[in-house]
Parts: sequence; structure tokens; C-alpha cells
Amino acid sequence: MRVVCLISGGGSNLQALIDWQTKGLLGNAEIVGVVSNNAGAFGLERAKKANISVSCVSHHDHPDRLQFDQALIEVIDRYQPDLVVLAGFMRILTSEFVHHYADRLINVHPSLLPKYKGLNTHRRAIEAGDATAGATVHWVTEELDSGGIIRQIEVPIHADDSEDSVKQRVLEAEHTLYPSVIRDLSLGVITC
Ligand code: GAR
Repeated sequence: MRVVCLISGGGSNLQALIDWQTKGLLGNAEIVGVVSNNAGAFGLERAKKANISVSCVSHHDHPDRLQFDQALIEVIDRYQPDLVVLAGFMRILTSEFVHHYADRLINVHPSLLPKYKGLNTHRRAIEAGDATAGATVHWVTEELDSGGIIRQIEVPIHADDSEDSVKQRVLEAEHTLYPSVIRDLSLGVITC
């Protein structure tokens, strides 16, 4: 299963995927390319270090979302992906993009969906007095953070937690959740 990862920033989820792949734990999945909308994304360095091909398509170089997404599709399709993995990719995608990758586009979101779609998920969970936070891997559909849920992981919120401490706890949990989902998709344990 040829996997292309889309990133915008630090790429710690990408690193977790690379680590699982290096250890032979990613099933039949292989990360064949990493694409970023941000040339300064640290995740690009992580990919290069692992000898994975990288590409950058900046949204600043395109007049609108549609043209940016078309340029992105062109670059991604060169890798002939079976699965496109959003790993901290912070751009809203057009329906054209989502349809192009129908049933092969997944995202990790830092909340227990359907709770807290969008941004500031941990702050909202703390403010609501939730006892738990978590992350969700889901299929991507046109509506933001609303596609079918594949798997979730839950972590506690403690009384003395800050937004940042919850974020770190959730991020660490993502580092097991996301690789395990991609492994299971590649082995046919999960189907769409
Ligand atoms: C992760 O927490 C991921 O769930 C979140 O961005 C972070 C990326 O971290 N994604 C979203 O908020 C998407 N809406 P990383 O770059 O270190 O993998």
C-alpha cells in the first residue's frame, strides 16, 4: 500500500509512522512521499533523514483554494498513492480534492469526534469540564472533521492539566493510534 503523507508543521505523527516502518511494524504500507504546503515544515527534514521523497506546494503560489488543490493533486499523484494520510495538514481541502481521493484519504484529529471539530479542541474540552480527551482517525469527506470514524484513543484530563499538557498527552496517543490504523488498513483488517 503506497502511502503519501501531507504535513504542514512539526511532523511528529509522520515521525511515528517512519519509526514503525523502520521497525517493520507498518504491515504492507510504505511511505513513498511526503508533501507539505509549507517549505519550512520540520516534518520535511524528518522525511529526508529517512530517505523519503519530499515535495512542497505552497498555497501562497496559487490564487485560490481550487488551483492550490489541483497543484497538490498533481504532485501527490506522481507517487501513485493507495492512501493519502493527512498528518497535521492545516489546510481546508476542496470537495474536488476530497472526491479525487475518495475512500483513500484519512485524517487524525485531536479530539474524540464528533466532539470539538475544528480548532482549539483541548481548550474546549477543558472548559467543558470533560474527564477525557483524545484523538480520532477518520475518513475525510467534504464536511470538516465529519467523515466515518475509523478508530479513537482516549486519554484522561487531570484537574491540574493545562491546554498544553493535554495536547502533549493526546499527541503521544496519536503516535500509536495513527500507525496502527495504517498498518491495519494495509493488512485489510480495516476496510472502508
Ligand atoms: C496533531 O495533533 C493532529 O491531530 C493535529 O495537528 C497535530 C499535528 O502534529 N491535526 C489537526 O488539528 C487537523 N485538524 P504533528 O505535526 O506533530 O504530527
